[in-house]
Amino acid sequence: MKKSLSLLLISVLVSLLVNTPWTLTVLQAATGSEPISPVQQMVKINAKKAELGKRLYFDPRLSKSGFISCNSCHNLSLGGTDNIATSIGHKWQQGPINAPTVLNSSYNIAQFWNGRAKDLKEQAGGPIANPKEMASTHELALEVLKSIPQYRKEFAQVYGSEEITIDRATGAIAEFENTLITPNSRFDQWLKGNKKAISAEELAGYNLFKSSGCVGCHNGVAVGGGSFQKLGVLKPYSTQNPAQGRFEVTQNEADKMVFKVPTLRNIELTYPYFHDGEVKTLKDAVSLMGQIQLGKEFSESEKSQLVAFLKTLTGDQPSFPLPILPPSNEKTPQPEPF
Ligand code: HEC
Ligand code: HEC
Repeated sequence: MKKSLSLLLISVLVSLLVNTPWTLTVLQAATGSEPISPVQQMVKINAKKAELGKRLYFDPRLSKSGFISCNSCHNLSLGGTDNIATSIGHKWQQGPINAPTVLNSSYNIAQFWNGRAKDLKEQAGGPIANPKEMASTHELALEVLKSIPQYRKEFAQVYGSEEITIDRATGAIAEFENTLITPNSRFDQWLKGNKKAISAEELAGYNLFKSSGCVGCHNGVAVGGGSFQKLGVLKPYSTQNPAQGRFEVTQNEADKMVFKVPTLRNIELTYPYFHDGEVKTLKDAVSLMGQIQLGKEFSESEKSQLVAFLKTLTGDQPSFPLPILPPSNEKTPQPEPF
């Protein structure tokens, strides 16, 4: 708790101090020796609730088509994302924005690129009823769950009664998402003292990540996720995507093109990059960040170093037996795929 408070303070400080020479010193003073800290090895969770949430996360019957689950767009075999520029939703509709990873999303200060959901529980209700995503309604999704005796039993075990509400369902999904952390990356091993865990080139990349100012925005446990920042501090980001970021939530002019700083954990797996998904490689992403956020033109070897460092942030991926879902029955509303 103390730690997350101090991280919050740090992100506030960082947003004030970005691009000043003091940023690094302040960060380091506040967190000990390094501005990035390791992912926890384990989190305290309610195991039954997370198990129920896992089934719901994988259950495509929460969608109108009976075909799309959370895992369709946040595929846990693909770093918690879909690896396409913008997601495909109900009836093959093109989504408006890139799907961020669900891995380590519990570390985010808020959810979505523009931060419109305050936490994972609030977020989880969105996609089920979004006509461009799962296209169901909360009522219909609940009817499906209520019709299935094994779900009723599991809700009773977790919540003390068979009642199935959207609040209970999204609470369970959020609990499952709390387990989706990726500890033990090579960089975390290095942070914990194993100096051989990363190579000289990767270390040079980390030093450059700090000295050139990336760490001013990408810091903390998730190497991001802690603040909202302008995309295009020194040069505008060129895109056809109409998203305006934080402005959509606050209607404050100053918040135009301000987005939640994404986590860089597992960034090697979560291509393509940026909210429009238009940047295909990590090398191009790093180069662009240098130009538009920091006014820096990195050399080829500097880009390689930064990319090498970023690849050390890939941690142990969530791993568990494939959840087996309880079957539908004659009372279950039929899927409408077409
Ligand atoms: C059709 C694809 C699709 C489906 C299905 C979907 N999502 Fe997403 N998800 C997205 C996209 C796209 C975003 C980003 C939207 C935005 O920021 O406006 C997102 C954002 C999120 C975020 C926020 C992450 C962050 O860093 O801000 C979380 C968490 C998440 N989804 C979890 C879920 C859960 C849980 C489900 C199932 C109930 C689900 N998603 C279903 C595409 C999808
Ligand atoms: C002023 C704050 C700031 C600085 C400094 C900064 N970034 Fe970012 N970074 C962001 C924001 C905000 C985004 C998300 C922008 C978007 O897509 O809307 C982002 C996105 C990224 C992405 C893509 C992540 C994804 O999932 O799509 C990478 C990679 C990245 N930054 C690396 C770096 C590197 C390397 C540096 C230093 C050269 C750096 N950043 C400096 C704020 C910053």
